[in-house]
Amino acid sequence: MIIIKGSNLVKEYGSKMSKTQVIKGINLTIESGEFVSVVGPSGSGKTTLLYLLSGLEPYTDGSIQLFDKELNTYSSSDTANLRQTKIGFVFQSYNLIGNLNVYENVLISAVIAGKSDKNRVHEALEMVGMLEYKDLYPNQISGGMQQRVSIARALVNDPEIIFADEPTGNLDHHNGFQIMEILKQLNQNYHKTIIFVTHNEDLLSFGTRTIRLNDGLIIEDVETLK
Ligand SMILES: Nc1ncnc2c1ncn2[C@@H]1O[C@H](COP(=O)(O)OP(=O)(O)OP(=O)(O)O)[C@@H](O)[C@H]1O
Ligand SMILES: [Mg+2]
Repeated sequence: MIIIKGSNLVKEYGSKMSKTQVIKGINLTIESGEFVSVVGPSGSGKTTLLYLLSGLEPYTDGSIQLFDKELNTYSSSDTANLRQTKIGFVFQSYNLIGNLNVYENVLISAVIAGKSDKNRVHEALEMVGMLEYKDLYPNQISGGMQQRVSIARALVNDPEIIFADEPTGNLDHHNGFQIMEILKQLNQNYHKTIIFVTHNEDLLSFGTRTIRLNDGLIIEDVETLK
């Protein structure tokens, strides 16, 4: 089942007088259950593409069908619903709230979506191996553990798609691979569609498909060799 379809997608930044095109006419289709790695040099548009596909940034031209509906026709309540329940986001810098403990950092995401289901919070923490650390604060745990919590936070409302922008970018090799293993489990065992950005070619083998960007265009889109 196709869940994302981008056609002739263009993103420009700047004013009318000086415009820069950073996404220059991209076509792509992503099916439910795929695990897509997006790679490419710095400035090639990886983050921008992720933000367009997830509705975090408006696109300038072209179209994006997300869950069968044109993204720029989403109402503000559609967009809120999308962010709260249908997609999850994981960032390079974790973005946990320092004065909330591990448990509360995940709970808050459920509460915002109107579902403060404590069992679900437990389940999400268990899925990333962080339940036993639930009472600790972000500054009491390692970067790898913080990233696991941020994955639990993205998971707690049971989204269909997880977008991750360089989720291992701040981590050492060992912790980075642990995070990738978790994403792989979520893909294989829970059928989450995952779209993640990386600079690290060693991580491509976790995914099922590699999209390579250069200067705002897709230059390669292939099934990942195992
Ligand atoms: N808000 C913005 N305003 C103007 N230009 C922007 C903005 N965001 C990104 N850009 C430009 O768009 C281009 C693509 O940026 P983007 O962040 O998507 O690249 P990236 O591939 O994610 O790079 P990196 O690997 O360094 O994270 C860059 O030239 C960047 O300077
Ligand atoms: Mg980026």
